[in-house]
Amino acid sequence: MQAKFQWRQATPDDLGAILAIQNIAHADFPEDEAVLAERLRLCPKGCFVLVKGDEIDGYLLSHPWTRLRPPPLNRPLGALPPEADCWYLHDLALLPKTRGSGAGTAIVSQLTALATEEGFPAIGLVSVGGSRPFWRKQHFTVVTDPMLAEKLESYGAGAAYMERKLIDT
Ligand SMILES: CC(C)(COP(=O)(O)OP(=O)(O)OC[C@H]1O[C@@H](n2cnc3c(N)ncnc32)[C@H](O)[C@@H]1OP(=O)(O)O)[C@@H](O)C(=O)NCCC(=O)NCCS
Repeated sequence: MQAKFQWRQATPDDLGAILAIQNIAHADFPEDEAVLAERLRLCPKGCFVLVKGDEIDGYLLSHPWTRLRPPPLNRPLGALPPEADCWYLHDLALLPKTRGSGAGTAIVSQLTALATEEGFPAIGLVSVGGSRPFWRKQHFTVVTDPMLAEKLESYGAGAAYMERKLIDT
């Protein structure tokens, strides 16, 4: 039986589709094309698109980063930190028609395997838009820390930093 969807590594040619999905999924907090293009350039192996037939219906952007220091939204990173201590899931977004199909869970499992293979002890992310229950199902928990308030400002009300530990620390 043919799979309903397939995740593959993203390429620069996918940028238009990624932007279009972002503008639907994150209409209130869109990021510039240059910001998304930089993520793809800095860490191609952490960037994926969801392919269904001829369409791209979702994306995930991620890269090595520093725990408890989520980068501000819509700003270029400049470079990846040489002493990265976590894998950072910058964004996962699917077109509304594709939600609830298990595609989100599938790519989080794939990313968990990648981050583990790369030797990182945790995956970090900022949950937005009421997605916290989804992340809890993916074994992420909210982490609170005084330094996070300022870091989360650009993500809007309700944003929370969450981590999934990959090894016991
Ligand atoms: C969040 C998102 C990626 C989830 O992807 P998905 O493919 O729909 O998730 P799955 O089908 O793998 O769902 C896994 C489980 O989480 C639940 N779930 C998914 N999104 C949820 C949400 N927003 N609130 C509560 N539960 C949710 C599903 O019902 C399912 O539950 P089950 O295991 O009991 O059946 C998708 O809804 C999305 O793109 N949302 C808009 C963008 C967004 O908010 N991204 C997160 C940015 S931090």
